[in-house]
Amino acid sequence: MPTIPGEFTPPPRLLLGPGPSQVHPRVLAAMAQPLLGHLDPAFIAMMEDVKVLLRLVFQTENALTFPVSGTGSAGMEACIVNLVEPGDEVVVGVNGVFGTRMADVIERAGGVAMRVEAPWGRVVRAEQVEAALRNCTRPKLVALVHAETSTGAWQPIPDAARLAHEHGALFLADCVTSLGGAPVEIDAWDVDAAYSGTQKCLSCPPGLAPVTFGPRAVEVIQTRNTKVRSWYLDVGMLRQYWGEERVYHHTAPISMNYALREALRLVAEEGLAPRFARHLKNHQALAAGLGALGLALAAEEGHRLPMLNTVTVPPGADEARVRSRLLAEHGIEIGGGLGPMKGKVWRIGLMGESSRRAHVLTVLAALEDVLRAEGRTVQAGASLAAAQAVYAA
Ligand SMILES: Cc1ncc(COP(=O)(O)O)c(C=O)c1O
Repeated sequence: MPTIPGEFTPPPRLLLGPGPSQVHPRVLAAMAQPLLGHLDPAFIAMMEDVKVLLRLVFQTENALTFPVSGTGSAGMEACIVNLVEPGDEVVVGVNGVFGTRMADVIERAGGVAMRVEAPWGRVVRAEQVEAALRNCTRPKLVALVHAETSTGAWQPIPDAARLAHEHGALFLADCVTSLGGAPVEIDAWDVDAAYSGTQKCLSCPPGLAPVTFGPRAVEVIQTRNTKVRSWYLDVGMLRQYWGEERVYHHTAPISMNYALREALRLVAEEGLAPRFARHLKNHQALAAGLGALGLALAAEEGHRLPMLNTVTVPPGADEARVRSRLLAEHGIEIGGGLGPMKGKVWRIGLMGESSRRAHVLTVLAALEDVLRAEGRTVQAGASLAAAQAVYAA
């Protein structure tokens, strides 16, 4: 008989990394509600609320908008395996971890990934997308990451979506990190399919991947020549559960759907425009404070995400030790760099509930403390003053 471990009590943390973000107590309370069956009429009514609220955040009328069971990567796979058939050419932007992952999923689905590369931290140019489209025989899809969490780059979408359509292709956007923190205008930008995750700017635990498919994407799914290469993520079957028929496919993660409904209610109560403005202001204040600490942002100027800040590690500073000290001494989680940015950047997330003035001031004060302890010269209080000046403006 193994020793039974004691109850798990997570230590107090302020989550300011690349996700998960802080979760509102109302969302945690929703998860503790009693379970319903996945075909219970009360649960079905709740699913309808989730769909309506997701359309609001995606800014779309798309009927086929629902949360896939699984994290953001499940949303990525769901979109790709349903839209891509073996041999299809897909133009995919690769300028960070998640574009790289999309290209991998496209190839696993049998597609031909036509990679459009940009240096990490920079965005993919519309001209590059156009050149790649011209290189295709019959492009099926263009796929870009709206908010590249690994680099902090904020990818413009509308021109690329227009170019995709001019070449007879669909357009897919990864909105995992942007949804709920910056405008994601599926209908206005003419995006055919998009996916997200719950644990970033929606401030819900990880576990669901909201997706949306427009009329062109639905048509492509309905007229496929081959079976979708994933049973679990086959949208043709999933829509029978999320649509009118309510046919059992798999057991919906009941409590996660309660949580998402509550998180979306919080987004709707705040309003999209004020929410986006809050994310932007907190980003500006953080950037000013970091500047006063002698730290620079790594992503391309003019294309910096409001909810994910990549900070260049200054010469001589120990990237991992600064992060460990922030966690151990201040209870603050921030992220490190991935891939070619490993050891070179910190990633500070200000997503959803994490994007608060109090958190900006807290992390700046903690960074000042740790950097000083690490032997750097920092002017006491200068970063707080710089951030406060942004709030006062
Ligand atoms: C832009 C982007 N796409 C996809 C994913 C994958 O999501 P998950 O880790 O929830 O599977 C992430 C996760 O950080 C992401 O930031």
